[in-house]
Amino acid sequence: MSPVKVGLLGLGTVGSGTATVLKRNAEEIARRAGRGIIIDHVATSKSELPQGLGLSNSRITTDPFDVVNDPDISIVVELYGGDEPAKSLVMQAISNGKHVVTANKALIAIHGNEIFAHAQEKGVLVAFESAVAGGIPIIKALREGLSANKINWLAGIINGTGNFILTEMRDKGRDFQDVLEEAQALGYAEADPTFDVEGVDAGHKLAILSSIAFGIPLQFGKTYLEGISTIAKEDVDYASELGYNIKHLGIARQTSQGIEQRVHPTLIPKKRLIANVDGVMNAVLVHGDAVGPTLHYGAGAGGEPTASAVVADIVDITRALTSDPENRVPHLAFQADSLSDVPVLPVESIQTAFYLRLTALDEPGVVATITQILGDGDISIEAFLQKQSNRADAEPANTATIILLTKVVNEGKMNDAITKIEALSVVSGNVTRIRVESLS
Ligand code: HSE
Repeated sequence: MSPVKVGLLGLGTVGSGTATVLKRNAEEIARRAGRGIIIDHVATSKSELPQGLGLSNSRITTDPFDVVNDPDISIVVELYGGDEPAKSLVMQAISNGKHVVTANKALIAIHGNEIFAHAQEKGVLVAFESAVAGGIPIIKALREGLSANKINWLAGIINGTGNFILTEMRDKGRDFQDVLEEAQALGYAEADPTFDVEGVDAGHKLAILSSIAFGIPLQFGKTYLEGISTIAKEDVDYASELGYNIKHLGIARQTSQGIEQRVHPTLIPKKRLIANVDGVMNAVLVHGDAVGPTLHYGAGAGGEPTASAVVADIVDITRALTSDPENRVPHLAFQADSLSDVPVLPVESIQTAFYLRLTALDEPGVVATITQILGDGDISIEAFLQKQSNRADAEPANTATIILLTKVVNEGKMNDAITKIEALSVVSGNVTRIRVESLS
């Protein structure tokens, strides 16, 4: 059978990785796919194709529409990222009856419902394994391997850059900006690195995972986002003293009221495997009713790890080229006409435990006043630490740092309690709050 011809949009870190992996493993990939796969047409701003990527016979263009309109191309691989021109290119490729592979999580999270509807209408596939957790085959695991289960919840470290920054800061005391620059140089970070540190990139990925886990339309706009830039070294240390590591987690949970879909720094018991996932590695913990917990671990960013998922999608599509469109795995795991309208909950409705840190006057009755406010809000305390200021010149003077862990509580009730605590004259500054998940 003649080889499948692929059009590649973008020859950056992941595009070069894709060409490299397709070249290096060409023979094994062909044995798996049932036919060869060649990159026939490449859109890149480079004036010529680099040597050593196996692209010596490929055509090159600076206009990506040349590729999506090329009648010889069966599969378009979109690696531009971002909104436009990626969206127009993908929609045009679909209109032209081409299958699409994309690593673009923003595109899928924000425009996926529209893109999949168009693909369904044209009988083509849009594959996006590489959009979530780099090289980890989590989309395939959720969509196929776990399809027997009702998914109760999932929690993931799904931004490699953020995890790399947190790990380097914790283990080597490195400066935030310095580690971020290294992540950019290594090709981990987004074009706009605030997407990594403010939780936007993880939010895109979580919206995709949540949709596939629970059979709901993609709803990135309803995802609660909180980044890592506010995490202080002292919180990392106090959390450690209490037996926890702080990780930036994306959490999606099915409750009787609706779906929790949230990204934020989280204290996790150190004994959980996922609490020990460091560096650029990602991990997604999925809890299914039949299987229980499953942990999916691997490199979350970088050229070849992400290319591993891109090429797997190309192989999957190649195998499916002759299959009946009606019998393919649905884009969002559930049949398109069977998605549920169960709501994504506002953050005030979620249930979680909290770590609180505050500075208060070191006087009789202060702790009692604070715990009374918590008690009045039905908030039960799990653990308590008090640290005297160790600086003679501490401002304000005669203060202590109070650290509390609460039991699971409604977030709205916690907001009310924090407002009341911050209004106390004996409390100075804001209350630092970090959510705590047992993941048991
Ligand atoms: N910027 C992303 C990350 C790349 O660091 O995880 C992979 O999606």
